[in-house]
Formats: sequence, C-alpha cells, structure tokens
Amino acid sequence: MVVPRILRVRSASPSIDTLHVRLNRGQTPSLFEERADALAHALLAQRVAVVKIKPQVIGLVIERENPFGSDPIPAIDLPHAADEVDLGAIELGDTEYGTAWTQSLLGQHLFVAGATGSGKGSLLWSPLRGMAPLLRDRVVLPDVIDLKEGMETEIGAPLFHRRAIEWADAVSVVESFRDELKARQAVLREQGRRKFTPSVETPLRLLQIDELGMMTSYGPASEVRGVLKLLSEIMTQGRAAGFGVCGYVQEPTKDTVPVRELFTARVCLSVTSQSQVDMVLGDGMRLRGALADEIPLDPAHAGIGFVVEQGSRNPLRVRASFQTDQDIRDLVAFVTSGRPRLHAVA
Ligand SMILES: Nc1ncnc2c1ncn2[C@@H]1O[C@H](COP(=O)(O)OP(=O)(O)OP(=O)(O)O)[C@@H](O)[C@H]1O
Ligand SMILES: [Mg+2]
Repeated sequence: MVVPRILRVRSASPSIDTLHVRLNRGQTPSLFEERADALAHALLAQRVAVVKIKPQVIGLVIERENPFGSDPIPAIDLPHAADEVDLGAIELGDTEYGTAWTQSLLGQHLFVAGATGSGKGSLLWSPLRGMAPLLRDRVVLPDVIDLKEGMETEIGAPLFHRRAIEWADAVSVVESFRDELKARQAVLREQGRRKFTPSVETPLRLLQIDELGMMTSYGPASEVRGVLKLLSEIMTQGRAAGFGVCGYVQEPTKDTVPVRELFTARVCLSVTSQSQVDMVLGDGMRLRGALADEIPLDPAHAGIGFVVEQGSRNPLRVRASFQTDQDIRDLVAFVTSGRPRLHAVA
C-alpha cells in the first residue's frame, strides 16, 4: 500500500497541528474530507479539517482538544483605581495557554466577527469593564450604536457618552464622532503635539457599533454611502488622535463591511463558512489552525474564537470572559457612583 507522504508538520499551538500531505495518484481532497471524522478518531483528535493547498497537496488541520471548559470564564474583578488599567493591554479573556488574553485599545480599531449566538456581546462589555475607573473618571468616553432596538446595550446604557438605537440617531453619532475627531486634531496641531495621551481634556474616544453591517450595508442605500465615508475618515485618521472604532458583525464579507480592511485588530468567533475565517484573520489562517467555522454554536462554546496577535503569523485560540447581567449592573454602579446621570442621544 502506498501511504500519502507527509511533507511538513507545523504546530500553531500545543493543541493544533497542521500536516501538509502529498496525495497519491487517484486520491482527491474530498476523499480526505469524507474520512475526516475517521481520521480524527484515529489520531485521537477532536476534529480534523482538510484544506486544499495546491494540486496534489492538502493540509490536515488537527485540533487535539478544546482547551476551555464548558463553563463560561467569569468576568475579571473590577479594577478600582485608574493606575490598575493599562489601555495598551485590556484583558478580554483567556488564551488556550491559560494566560490572559489582552488587547490594546489605544490607537486600535477592533473587528469582531461571529455568527448569531457566538458571543460577540461579551467583547462589547469586557473592554468597558477593563477600563472601568477610566470610564468613571471620564478619561475614556465610549459611544455605542445598537440598532437591534437597543436590546443588547440597554442594561449598560449609563456607561455610554452617546447611545443610538435608531438609524437617524446612529448617523448623527457617527457624524459627531467625526466632528470631535476634527476638533481634536486641531487642538493637537495647535499644541504641536503628535501623540495623544488620554486625559479628561482629551479623553480616549471609542465608538462601539453592534451589528456594523446595518450601518455599512443594510441601512437606507442613500445614507449608507455617507456613513461609509465618515467611517473611513474616522478609521484612517483617528488612531493618533485617540479615536477608535469597535465593530461587531455577523457577516464579515467585503460587501457587508467595505471598511473591513481599516480595522487593525480582529477576532474571529464561530463563523458560518470556511472562507469567512481568512476574510477576518488574513489569508492562510484557517490552514494554520484557525478552524473558527468548526466551533459549535452553543453556549458551551460561546466566546471561543481565534486572533492573530501583532507580530505573530499563527492564530491563537482564545475565549472571551463572560459578564452576567449582574456584572454589567455592578459595572454601571461603579462607573456612575457619585456622578449625575448622563444623557443618551436616543
Ligand atoms: N464569552 C462567553 N462565554 C460563555 N458564554 C457566552 C459568552 N458570550 C456569550 N455567551 C452566551 O452565548 C449567548 C449568545 O451570546 P451573544 O448574545 O453575545 O451572541 P452574539 O454574537 O452577540 O449574537 P447576535 O449576533 O445574535 O447578537 C449569550 O446569551 C450567553 O449565554
Ligand atoms: Mg449580539
């Protein structure tokens, strides 16, 4: 019997290996796809995915185990003092190595893709929790657009500087965000400063947009173009001035999110097709182990996904920590204690 030759073995992490395999004459990638389950059992792996690399060569991505338990990772303890917060490393959850998964929110635009129920909500709240004292001190001012009737963000509404739950308000939130960016740029220029430092005078501004596709594609056609123009302006110019965008999408295609390439940090939770993985994380990342399309869409796996950290060429498996409604209420109580209630736009 002629055994297919293994050309190369790569391990992105302790639990994911990629084998490059040369097919024997007469074998096809679909033959391996059909047998993927048997292969997984034979290799004592959780799952095996087959990726076409070039004629006669396939990649077998072998995921050995799910490093995360089925219970959610609890929210981090609320930081109470501003000096406990490092905006360059906000904790979002755990990595598959059991270390903290952190993400900078300074000069970054964060893109989170995942099917409905994949856990995008936890990545809306965890950045805010991680910077709680700075929200309280108004050194960070977050805006949110939540066109799903405001359901997702209702409970945390007092955390936000502006909150829009209807189209017209959403557009005006984006416009104001751009106008503030312009004003900030003028101030920095006047002061001869190129680098921005978050302070009460010049707060870090965040614009979190849940269901970003509503703003960039599904909204009224005549207005979507204007929104895209504003977002492009904000995202190309905002980083140095302290204006960041976090976008959450179910459908990460370029048609839905034409500004996708302007995001600087990406998270791929469970997605519905293989091609979406590379759309979010970059070419070749699924082959390197980011089997985000294979993450089951159920509560035991919500919040699990992949990221590619700066300076790395391998995907890293992560799981977002989960904030219960009570956690969010506690966050609101902490942030708003002793200050008058903010007015939402909506
Ligand atoms: N990080 C997490 N860890 C564990 N469970 C989670 C996590 N995030 C969310 N969940 C669970 O999964 C459910 C769905 O999550 P969530 O509402 O965040 O999905 P979503 O991606 O925002 O979906 P949609 O696109 O429909 O808004 C939540 O109700 C919660 O029970
Ligand atoms: Mg959601």
